[in-house]
Amino acid sequence: MLHISPFLCVYCNKYKHTQHKGCYRMLDILRARRSIRKFQDRAIEPEVIELLKEALLRSPSSRGINPWEFIFIDDPLILKKLAKSKEHGSELLDGAALGIVVCGDETRSDVWVEDCSIASVIVQLTAQTIGLGSCWVQIRNRNHDTAITSERYVQELLDIPHHIRVESIIALGNPNEIKNPVPYEKLQFHKLHHNRFP
Ligand SMILES: Cc1cc2nc3c(=O)[nH]c(=O)nc-3n(C[C@H](O)[C@H](O)[C@H](O)COP(=O)(O)O)c2cc1C
Repeated sequence: MLHISPFLCVYCNKYKHTQHKGCYRMLDILRARRSIRKFQDRAIEPEVIELLKEALLRSPSSRGINPWEFIFIDDPLILKKLAKSKEHGSELLDGAALGIVVCGDETRSDVWVEDCSIASVIVQLTAQTIGLGSCWVQIRNRNHDTAITSERYVQELLDIPHHIRVESIIALGNPNEIKNPVPYEKLQFHKLHHNRFP
């Protein structure tokens, strides 16, 4: 006879044999997370910033190379300049309490883009769990103007060497807008396939 010993539910700390109904903490975070582009005019507490740092450094990376570098920007003047990284879509950085510039060393890993993307999402989800709002600002493959890429603009502004590539800037702060979760019925279930495509 198969004997399954009970184990602690990581969510509610009670013994269980199967998933406790209602213990879906991760899904609750995913449901609530939306891109927040308006922030309150107040700093993020230093101890909260430490949690964000820990989350970033716990991100998985290909072969454990950890090619990422993270630059924490809380100087409003620098954030204002970063807000001009792109013609559209970066302005929200002016008003964020914190911008995390997510970079990857292309000489250390050929999948630095994936590693940086995972770290970007992990810090966004961590921010969600501690009541912060966040938004991804795409830098790689975007243009500052017709003469210079967004990546080069950020590299020059922050003295980043050319081989340290810039994937994104994650804008963070205490939210100053409320966004509802995307309703379950609106999820794109037609994107899910079984055993073959389509
Ligand atoms: C790879 C990526 C790049 C993005 N770039 C930007 C950006 O440059 N500016 C911006 O305002 N939002 C950006 N976003 C946020 C998306 O617009 C947003 O996630 C999407 O519209 C879905 O909305 P939601 O995050 O509220 O669910 C980006 C998101 C991702 C995943």
